[in-house]
Amino acid sequence: MADSNKLIIFDTTLRDGEQSPGASMTKEEKIRIARQLERLKVDVIEAGFAASSPGDFEAIKAIAGIIKDSVVCSLSRANDRDISRAAEALAPAPRKRIHTFIATSPLHMEKKLRMSPDQVYEQARQAVRFARQFTDDVEFSPEDGSRSDMDFLCRVLEAVIDEGATTINFADTVGYGVPELYGQMLRTLRERIPNSDKAVWSVHCHNDLGMAVANSLAGVMIGGARQVECTINGLGERAGNTALEEIIMAVRTRKDHFGLEVGIDTTQIVPTSKLVSQITGFAVQPNKAVVGANAFAHASGIHQDGILKARDTYEIMRAEDVGWSANKIVLGKLSGRNAFKQRLDELGITLDSEAEVNAAFARFKELADRKSEIFDEDIMALVSDEQQSHEKEHYQFVSLSQRSETGEKPHARVVFSMGGREVSCEGDGNGPVDAIVNAIETQTQSGAELLLFSVNAITTGTQSQGEVTMRLSKSGRIVNGVGADLDIVVASAKAYLSALNKLHSKTEKLNPQM
Ligand code: KIV
Ligand code: ZN
Repeated sequence: MADSNKLIIFDTTLRDGEQSPGASMTKEEKIRIARQLERLKVDVIEAGFAASSPGDFEAIKAIAGIIKDSVVCSLSRANDRDISRAAEALAPAPRKRIHTFIATSPLHMEKKLRMSPDQVYEQARQAVRFARQFTDDVEFSPEDGSRSDMDFLCRVLEAVIDEGATTINFADTVGYGVPELYGQMLRTLRERIPNSDKAVWSVHCHNDLGMAVANSLAGVMIGGARQVECTINGLGERAGNTALEEIIMAVRTRKDHFGLEVGIDTTQIVPTSKLVSQITGFAVQPNKAVVGANAFAHASGIHQDGILKARDTYEIMRAEDVGWSANKIVLGKLSGRNAFKQRLDELGITLDSEAEVNAAFARFKELADRKSEIFDEDIMALVSDEQQSHEKEHYQFVSLSQRSETGEKPHARVVFSMGGREVSCEGDGNGPVDAIVNAIETQTQSGAELLLFSVNAITTGTQSQGEVTMRLSKSGRIVNGVGADLDIVVASAKAYLSALNKLHSKTEKLNPQM
């Protein structure tokens, strides 16, 4: 199995990616990302961790009912309850996978699980046996695998393959691996385990030392893995996971070295990156490989001169191959509902009802009155905004007026609805954004701490909408709110209210690593 040239791409943006502090997503947001991942043609979508919360269970179930081409997967700890929950959520999926895991390193077994190695061995075995009752596609991960004892790993992995695990995912949970060593460990496991050829071997690397992509590729080249677990933009706990876009473009661009096939539609990489960043509020750094705004920008005169003479002097990939297109004006104020709906389809945005299309179209008309050129990015932002307001959120922005003058303290008046009741509030601040936050707080009294405030231009030029992210923290919970508008102060008010909604929704999740 491991000798095939096909590299399976397992996307875990909706599960491990969502474990980034503040990146939690609503069901509708997860569905939008899952649809886009299917357009990107990933092989497996890990849609969540069904037993972690009722919200995650519902999101997985909805995704399982929608996605047809990719395998839909749920994570579960190695116990019957988690596995049954995963199976139940995945039931509507035409192709489903249960991914079960248990920690195998001495540190995790002793300090976290408080279990003996024999108990872990038995539990892993039973979990895979139980999961096989629901599907013949079962993945097993030895958590903290890269810090586990090799003899013990061999014993556990041989047993779970015997029980029917079809994928073995060698997890570098804390990003401790070094490419040569990680790749060699995987190779040794495959060589020493007698039934290793009965499973596909997978890599799952975290980026704590900035080596997740290098470790994953070493796992493939040295270790013989044929599945890579990764996330869009490298989103994930702490320093994140292996970045999908980097793996794909490395394997494609250096096919001479890797000799592997991936089924990904690379032109969907940038649209997917933008969607994930817009929904989670995690901006992509400009110099990020492949999807950063500067990834294909040439500033120095010598480089520009070279590019004009022959692009491959300084470019190893073509921007259009990964989905970068010059901002295209797609619609304007005279565009009708049909043209708008068609553009939504082309962007892979599916709204649930005609009423939602009408509401989004009304917002589009409003925007087109204020902005002469509407780009794809504008449409994506307004659909996100629309989905936030139609989800019957507790707090909803209505209007705002704000005054700033040199030498004067900025003042803001904000109107919003709170549980269906419209309230109006005023506040002063050190700046206009401080004033609106102070105004809103007079009513909500959340007492949340603002950890991050960032503004991004959605497109180019001074006519661009501003997209604001606000990250709030309260009682140990961290949430991100995102808002977009031509007026960045209005965008800030929307972002603040969106973050308060997330704090209000109290959808507590279990962390799978707990
Ligand atoms: O990092 C990790 O160990 C995981 C497992 C659950 C696969 O995410
Ligand atoms: Zn992980």
